[in-house]
Amino acid sequence: METTNMESTPMPRIGDQAPDFEAVTTKGKIKLSDFAKNKWLVMFSHPADFTPVCTTEMSGFAIRKKEFDALNTELLGLSIDSVHSHLGWVNNVREKTGVYFDFPIIADIDMKVSKLYGMLQPNESETAAVRAVFFIDPKKKIRLIMYYPLNVGRNMNEILRALEALQTSDKFKVAMPLDWIKGDKVIVPPPKTLEEMEARLKDDSIEMVDFYLAKKELNYN
Ligand code: BEZ
Repeated sequence: METTNMESTPMPRIGDQAPDFEAVTTKGKIKLSDFAKNKWLVMFSHPADFTPVCTTEMSGFAIRKKEFDALNTELLGLSIDSVHSHLGWVNNVREKTGVYFDFPIIADIDMKVSKLYGMLQPNESETAAVRAVFFIDPKKKIRLIMYYPLNVGRNMNEILRALEALQTSDKFKVAMPLDWIKGDKVIVPPPKTLEEMEARLKDDSIEMVDFYLAKKELNYN
């Protein structure tokens, strides 16, 4: 596995089981393996409480939490701050804007989880987590990872789009083309044998550029 250059902590990769941990959060102690049972999990880090970009991002997660709920997905935040700092920030944002961060935020003051998940990238910052997003499926397998630097906020539409794309791909055994959003045509997986290729070439139920690039509509009902 890839390693950071600060310590030889392995970086989790797509397809790995999500490393288990116990942590203190704004909603009490959690153990990852017991958290979000039978659900998807979007776990994300932010560099620091009471900072501007982080406030916009966390507010984005809070404002759109119902869309994550609809996708059977729990949210779990993290930063290298104390739980007292998290509570103060949550309350401050609620007082100033009316937005309430109603999901657990890990107080990773000993950097244990940040290091375990490669969120501490020392050439970006030695003390603050980068903006990471881990998409973890109900079997606790890591399915997609995003890392953003400290100075660029993430895109909530893309986080939700990627989550829905993963779930749709699993459900219908298809792949998602460039810029796919729900309702768009999907990619039919390419044939793996000559027999499958010949069958594909005769299949007029799908939109085919050639045997390896074919799309179809999904029936969601
Ligand atoms: C921010 O969220 O605004 C921020 C946090 C840490 C470093 C730089 C920016």
